[in-house]
Amino acid sequence: MKNRPLIEANGISKKYDYQLFENLDFKLWEGQSVAVMGRSGSGKSTLLHILSSLLKPDSGNVKLFGYDIYSLKDDDIEIIRRLKLGIIFQSHYLFKGMTVLENIEAATLLAGTKVDYELLQMLEIDHIVNKRVGDISGGQQQRVSIARVLSKKPKIIYADEPTGNLDRETANLVMDALGSYIKKNGAALFVVTHDNEIAQKTEKVYHLEDRRLITQNLH
Ligand SMILES: Nc1ncnc2c1ncn2[C@@H]1O[C@H](COP(=O)(O)OP(=O)(O)OP(=O)(O)O)[C@@H](O)[C@H]1O
Ligand SMILES: [Mg+2]
Repeated sequence: MKNRPLIEANGISKKYDYQLFENLDFKLWEGQSVAVMGRSGSGKSTLLHILSSLLKPDSGNVKLFGYDIYSLKDDDIEIIRRLKLGIIFQSHYLFKGMTVLENIEAATLLAGTKVDYELLQMLEIDHIVNKRVGDISGGQQQRVSIARVLSKKPKIIYADEPTGNLDRETANLVMDALGSYIKKNGAALFVVTHDNEIAQKTEKVYHLEDRRLITQNLH
């Protein structure tokens, strides 16, 4: 397990109105965290979708856990996505009329896991578990949706601007919670961010630029 990447993408290309990226290779290993930065419209979210089983590239292939994901049947992709992948979108998909705890339990029930109170504590939402989601702040909702995704105990976490609307201190604690999750669970993290300070909390920072992923050099 250790010597096989969780994500291995080879020669992927995607074009909409313009070519977003071309012949791109990417690997992500167990225990590793990476950030992708880049201009608005450069294709970061599109890349996240392609690497997370949601969007087939124009060419190239994506292997997750060794499976060539876009050659599988939809049902099989769905099982991997549901059990193994944790995708954190910028807009939260929470049940607004239910409490924080009920929202998290909905995820643990589906995945057959338990509520991780330590995680809720790390995200500083342990004191609001009995409040209705409609009655908590936007930043708290963002952290609940992260907790909900992590509660499934996925092996690969994909996060698109997970700290977008958060103050610095809260953004840092979200990144620390994600970092501690992947270490504790032998998982991996792929995060898209505009925030260089957040990006620096991962092991490797890429810039999506000129249709390529360029590794940021640390000076
Ligand atoms: N489903 C789609 N259909 C057509 N064009 C799309 C689609 N999804 C994305 N695009 C286009 O692809 C380009 C890249 O979009 P993407 O969302 O990947 O950028 P991004 O790097 O995530 O930007 P941001 O930093 O603003 O979130 C944009 O020009 C966008 O309009
Ligand atoms: Mg985006």
